[in-house]
Amino acid sequence: MENTKCVLVTGASQGIGKAISLSLAKDHSCKVFALSRNESALNELASASSNIIPIVCDLTSKSERKVALNKINSISSHLDGLINNAGFLVNGSLPNLDEEDIRKIFEVNYFSAALLIQECLGLLKKAKSSHIVNIGSMGGFQGSQKFNGLSVYSSSKAALASLSECLAVELAEFGISSNCLNLGAVQTEMLEEAFPGYRAPLDAKSMGKYIAKFALEGHETYNGQSLPVSFSAP
Ligand SMILES: NC(=O)c1ccc[n+]([C@@H]2O[C@H](COP(=O)([O-])OP(=O)(O)OC[C@H]3O[C@@H](n4cnc5c(N)ncnc54)[C@H](OP(=O)(O)O)[C@@H]3O)[C@@H](O)[C@H]2O)c1
Repeated sequence: MENTKCVLVTGASQGIGKAISLSLAKDHSCKVFALSRNESALNELASASSNIIPIVCDLTSKSERKVALNKINSISSHLDGLINNAGFLVNGSLPNLDEEDIRKIFEVNYFSAALLIQECLGLLKKAKSSHIVNIGSMGGFQGSQKFNGLSVYSSSKAALASLSECLAVELAEFGISSNCLNLGAVQTEMLEEAFPGYRAPLDAKSMGKYIAKFALEGHETYNGQSLPVSFSAP
């Protein structure tokens, strides 16, 4: 286990997170802690590779995050990577969204990610050189084309991107790198709900492979960067 790369992936039950987990486990022989709320989806994912360990957790719950971290700590002494991929989107403009949705979008996309990073620091510090990869969106990338109905979602991702830049400075003394990948459209359940009928130029598998490789190698080239990963709009 000491030489095996260990990576925590959030939002692993479906879409891009599932694809990242499969690529890390199968293409790169990593030990993957695959986290989401959906136990049966995670168990099915884990049946695809013995390298995948399901971690059932609602990221918005402090007590559930604590149980999740205890489980990871009982299995691994370190984390080489943390991929904050879990995300939540409600398609609605600011005048039309209710307070609960506005708060929930930031709760999942920003606060849960920031708090999970804080709580994983002990494990990340113990790896030789660890990498935090936050999954942002082109909507939150400065100067990008904007779309009606995505203001709160996009601003939550902009906050995550800014956090990623700042953490490179704050965590440098621990040998922890931090980057944000701002994704363009990828064909997943989330995209289908937000843009019904739209066909994205990329599928989850291709993006998952890209992010898995970036999580393992990207910090040799980038630190504190908010990078566009897109050739389409949205
Ligand atoms: N698809 C795109 O076009 C696109 C574009 C730009 C950025 N992104 C970003 O890429 C990431 C993955 O997107 P996707 O399209 O694969 O989304 P998705 O299919 O909707 O999957 C979202 C994942 O997040 C998890 N999640 C949501 N709330 C959670 C919570 N409270 N606790 C734990 N897990 C939670 C879900 O798991 P459970 O429901 O099982 O808990 C699910 O696994 C997101 O951050 C998204 O914002 C996607």
